[in-house]
Amino acid sequence: MLRKSLPSWTHPKILCRQMSVVARSLKYTQHGEPQDVLHLVEDQLAEPKNQQVLVKILAAPINPADINTIQGKYPVKPKFPAVAGNEFVGEVICVGDKVKKLQPGAHVVPLATGLGTWTTHAVYNEDQLMAISNKVGLAEAATITVNPCTAYRMLKDFVQLSPGDTVIQNGANSAVGQAVHQLCKAWGINSVGIVRNRPEIAELKKMLECLGANAVLTEEEMRTSDIFKSGKLQRPKLAFNCVGGKSATEVSRHLNDRGVMVTYGGMSREPVTVATGPLIFKDIAFRGFWMTRWSKENYSAPERTQMFKELCQLMEQGKFVAPTHEMVPLEKFKEAAAAALSFKGFTGKKFILEMSC
Ligand SMILES: NC(=O)c1ccc[n+]([C@@H]2O[C@H](COP(=O)([O-])OP(=O)(O)OC[C@H]3O[C@@H](n4cnc5c(N)ncnc54)[C@H](OP(=O)(O)O)[C@@H]3O)[C@@H](O)[C@H]2O)c1
Repeated sequence: MLRKSLPSWTHPKILCRQMSVVARSLKYTQHGEPQDVLHLVEDQLAEPKNQQVLVKILAAPINPADINTIQGKYPVKPKFPAVAGNEFVGEVICVGDKVKKLQPGAHVVPLATGLGTWTTHAVYNEDQLMAISNKVGLAEAATITVNPCTAYRMLKDFVQLSPGDTVIQNGANSAVGQAVHQLCKAWGINSVGIVRNRPEIAELKKMLECLGANAVLTEEEMRTSDIFKSGKLQRPKLAFNCVGGKSATEVSRHLNDRGVMVTYGGMSREPVTVATGPLIFKDIAFRGFWMTRWSKENYSAPERTQMFKELCQLMEQGKFVAPTHEMVPLEKFKEAAAAALSFKGFTGKKFILEMSC
């Protein structure tokens, strides 16, 4: 209707005045389990003014941190009432009269964190958004800002890696893990993944090897593997841990002298324990990483622009795909949120909310 009555999208001010959008959003007013505290509510949105942009959200993933934020167990504390969600890809519908870089029709992803994205529409400031090529797939764009960026930064910022070097990680089937394998493949780095055993382990190994893993071993297999002793692969300079407990201890044992283990998650909810021998005799180091902190500290840094450029190029070339996922209608959020963070794990896929309106 709008396209018919107006000749083009080149008059954003006029379009915005005629816009009357009702957003359906997943909101909460207190912390708790998502299925208990989230409610689908409708709000009439004010038209975007000045630097504001009206965005139609196309897809928004459910990440572990989103669930932890709703539960009140994450360092990010929203102001209530809050719209849940942190990542999305959306389409610009119309813009305020002082918007300079974004035009209607452009696809956008968040530059800022904690915007509240589990909604059909939202009004954001232009400087909170980044345009992304429409050639990047919806699932890839919807999930670009957290997990691929985490993998990218952890591979770049702790140890100087060269082609032929090795990286090892537990939770190697996580969304971050899948991103690590793909970046390693693109950069010529060997990627060794450790996963928990399961009935369909052969399929999982195959899938991760297709993404770029050189070897995928269960925790039990890793304990007796000679993959490094035999010289098949160099001992890892860098390790990533998103599990904690014994799994982290085991991963750190395989590090080379002066290797670094970066902890970025604690899915087992057990503390990271360190074997004394490797700590002393190999002088290994333990670090932590939080993407939210990095993004805030590097909001407009050239390193951030370069990171998104490289990731988008790989995505457009089909060399970097979204993690295994299922698109779920917004109305089915309760089931998806509950399945996304079951304590036992073995979820097998990421849920991405698809907004249809
Ligand atoms: N620090 C940061 O900036 C940052 C950024 C992104 C993500 N993260 C964190 O990284 C972790 C993974 O995130 P994601 O989005 O990649 O998650 P995801 O795709 O949902 O993957 C979850 C991973 O955790 C494993 N897991 C789940 N429950 C477990 C348990 N009880 N014991 C051992 N392993 C378990 C799963 O393995 P199974 O298949 O064996 O269950 C899977 O490998 C989360 O803790 C998340 O908060 C941190």
